[in-house]
Amino acid sequence: MRLAREGSNLVLAARNVDACEEVAAAVRENGVRALAVELDVGDPDSVKRAVTAAIDEFGTLDGLINNAGITRDSLLLRLKEDDWDAVLRTDLSGVFLCSRAVLRSMLRRRQGRIVSISSIVGLLGNPGQTNYAAAKAGVHGFTKALAREVASRAITVNAVAPGYIDSDMTRDLPEETKQRLQEQIPLGRLGTGKDVAGVVSFLLSDDAAYMTGQVISVDGGMHM
Ligand SMILES: NC(=O)c1ccc[n+]([C@@H]2O[C@H](COP(=O)([O-])OP(=O)(O)OC[C@H]3O[C@@H](n4cnc5c(N)ncnc54)[C@H](O)[C@@H]3O)[C@@H](O)[C@H]2O)c1
Repeated sequence: MRLAREGSNLVLAARNVDACEEVAAAVRENGVRALAVELDVGDPDSVKRAVTAAIDEFGTLDGLINNAGITRDSLLLRLKEDDWDAVLRTDLSGVFLCSRAVLRSMLRRRQGRIVSISSIVGLLGNPGQTNYAAAKAGVHGFTKALAREVASRAITVNAVAPGYIDSDMTRDLPEETKQRLQEQIPLGRLGTGKDVAGVVSFLLSDDAAYMTGQVISVDGGMHM
């Protein structure tokens, strides 16, 4: 919604296309175009179909936001291979597949922005989240390597590492855990989607043209 208010045409992509369609309708109220497409970021064919549909509709893609992410928490001794694979597939392979799929069009135009949403857990680690931490730290390495690979074509690649954000992912945490987390956040509150959106919007903008390969923390000061 933030990007729509700022005048961007948007492709909204997720597994639940009906939910995307609802957001697309709200996005269009800002006078911009929006396309809802079905996308499973861990499925190469689905990624290919979604990017083809987006380019058919808009001709080019100026930016990609890799936002899909899941957690399957467990202490390592009890961590199942399926839970390791699922998190790596969505949170890391998804970033690889989607970035690769949009890159050709960006390289041709010698411009583009890729922003991946990683996590403070990829910087600090967290007990019970070895799979998630590995995937998100992987996003940081991927970001820096790709940034170097495509910098000569004026394409920037950055990551945003949120701390604890009030969202579906954290809403079900026990009140006690939230309280404990809050005490570790220098700014004294959980973040909001708005806090993250502002930084993503900046990284997509011309003002961030000279920033690439960065991991920007948006975490109330937890990691400094
Ligand atoms: N909430 C937090 O505290 C927090 C902190 C740091 C990082 N993050 C990261 O922010 C991003 C957004 O998470 P959120 O907090 O909004 O959680 P969320 O669960 O509300 O959103 C994650 C979205 O990813 C989608 N998704 C999952 N697997 C997918 C797949 N295979 N293909 C397409 N879409 C898929 C889900 O349907 C969901 O809409 C994630 O990458 C998450 O790891 C969240």
